[in-house]
Amino acid sequence: MAAPLTPLVLPAWTSPAPTTVPDPAPTTLVPTRVEIPERTVWVDLDLINNLLAKARHAATLACAPFSHFHVGAALIMADDPDHTVITGANVENSSLSLTQCAERTALYFAAAQGFRKLRYLAVSCAATTPATPIRDRSPCGSCRQVIREFSTPETLIFLDTGGPHPGADVFDVDRLLPHGFLFKGPPAN
Ligand code: THU
Repeated sequence: MAAPLTPLVLPAWTSPAPTTVPDPAPTTLVPTRVEIPERTVWVDLDLINNLLAKARHAATLACAPFSHFHVGAALIMADDPDHTVITGANVENSSLSLTQCAERTALYFAAAQGFRKLRYLAVSCAATTPATPIRDRSPCGSCRQVIREFSTPETLIFLDTGGPHPGADVFDVDRLLPHGFLFKGPPAN
């Protein structure tokens, strides 16, 4: 029997209109309000809790001798008929710039297996407690761009809130990376 689905409400997100007068020439710039409506998504909570647990475990395997900040990721690809859970952790390098984040470790592994469509991604930072602000446990800008390129409107990203009970902040890709770049290729001429 199929698992029961639970509704999760993604909050409306509004970027406020600028409060300062733009410079130069306010007459040439019309600030536009951007609004994304509230949206209800339906998920199998057991599956999501399992992904979060696997992301937490993956964080324990991080190779982070420089930052000591351990991050784990666990994902399922929509185009993987077996729904295999793929995990990854951050891997640091003494050059520092070659460091790879947990999200990209997992996503690049999935892509290298031939999968292209991300369904669910859970991210967990080992240091996270329920008091940790979201900015201290959410994907970096580079990872957001990579996540975007493998995402569809159905993709959901779960950021572990830490603590003994499973919990996560939930995003779709437009909330994770508003106005993200997508290269469509050069125009035909
Ligand atoms: N890190 C991730 O694994 N994912 C992110 O999205 C943010 C940062 C890692 C990279 C580095 O090893 C450590 O966290 C500190 O920045």
